[in-house]
Amino acid sequence: MLFKLTDEQLMIQNMVREFSRKVVAATAAERDRTKQFPAENFRQMGELGLMGMMIPENYGGEAADAVSYVLALSEIAYSCASTSVVMSVQNSIVCESLLKFGTEEQKHKFLVPLASGEIIGAFALTEPDAGSDPVSQTATAVLEGDSYVINGTKRFITSGKNGSVVLVTAKTDGSVGHKGISCFIVPKGTPGLVVGHLEDKMGLRASDTTDLIFENCRVPAANILGREGDGFKIAMSGLDSGRIGIAAQSLGVAQAAFDAAVKYARKRKQFGSAISKHQAIRFQIADMATQIEAARQLIFSAASMKDRGEAYTKEASIAKLFASEMVNKVTARAIQIHGGYGFTKDYNVERYYRDARVFTIYEGTSEIQRMVISNHVLRDKRKP
Ligand code: CAA
Repeated sequence: MLFKLTDEQLMIQNMVREFSRKVVAATAAERDRTKQFPAENFRQMGELGLMGMMIPENYGGEAADAVSYVLALSEIAYSCASTSVVMSVQNSIVCESLLKFGTEEQKHKFLVPLASGEIIGAFALTEPDAGSDPVSQTATAVLEGDSYVINGTKRFITSGKNGSVVLVTAKTDGSVGHKGISCFIVPKGTPGLVVGHLEDKMGLRASDTTDLIFENCRVPAANILGREGDGFKIAMSGLDSGRIGIAAQSLGVAQAAFDAAVKYARKRKQFGSAISKHQAIRFQIADMATQIEAARQLIFSAASMKDRGEAYTKEASIAKLFASEMVNKVTARAIQIHGGYGFTKDYNVERYYRDARVFTIYEGTSEIQRMVISNHVLRDKRKP
């Protein structure tokens, strides 16, 4: 491994690896079948400090660096991608947005229980007709006295059902594009917030993805996150961190598929020897190892830039683009190496392949990542 981890980072990696492979892995296949949310795992993950890893200790977090976070997240993803997506959304776009933009009062009221893992959070940006283009969202928030009244429908919301608090974006001014989008903290149980359709998905089946419907949902004016018009910036900066997280999830699932493929190739005999002796399989294993290692270095690099306080939007998108495309290739090859058995539910590679499919889609499709990367490259006037 090119990147040299510190003793503390290695300790966190080992601790999470042990927990993940013992506890999270034990029920992952069953939960994929039953779609049961791993609430008990999250309780334990909260105790281990995994639900607000990069949040300072005085707000309930662990004050870990971003490199430690991606190590931990990919270890959880190794065993269960459904569990890791909830951990990813919670740590990045929910907790970090509150830390960066919240008032002291909001941090004590909402961030502390989230970061300590007492409750799960959700971030609601996407709408039925506004996915890649969130500026075209139509949800509205109108100030009436000392409350905002929110109306609109949000779609594909991770933890929409099991989350206890939602950060939701809505337009406070429809005439100024992204500058008219604001963000609000809405606790579940607020009258007018209804959990809508629960998606029946191809993968990540134990993580709930729902519509959230806001019908004259009234929140105190004090629940605005940042100022009016900050909502798009909050979402974009949260997604920068989130995209490193999706890359780390991709890495974890790819590593699991790779380890399973190597193990199977060593054991499976055809034409008189283990298939790992056949060059056709050896070369596939070499390509998978190379792709995984390249993704790992891109992820560490983006996370290190974040830790150093440097701008990392482009690097997060590069890591997300490469790692999410990589895991789709690696899981497909892992099935190929397993042959007919890989197509059955007797082997985990079938689940890895389904889980991986969304990684090139959520928190910005591969096409959106290419837009972000090319915008940054072409905007940099110092380059020829
Ligand atoms: N951080 C902070 N601010 C940023 C930013 C960033 N990373 N990126 C852009 N901004 C700001 C810009 O500075 C600019 O502000 P000013 O006008 O004040 O200068 C403003 O935002 C607009 O920037 P752009 O002109 O670059 O924005 P755009 O409209 O051209 O395009 C986009 C932006 C990249 C296409 C963006 O819309 C985007 O990322 N779309 C994809 C959305 C997405 O990822 N959705 C997934 C939702 S979450 C999810 O998947 C569900 C889940 O629960 C897991």
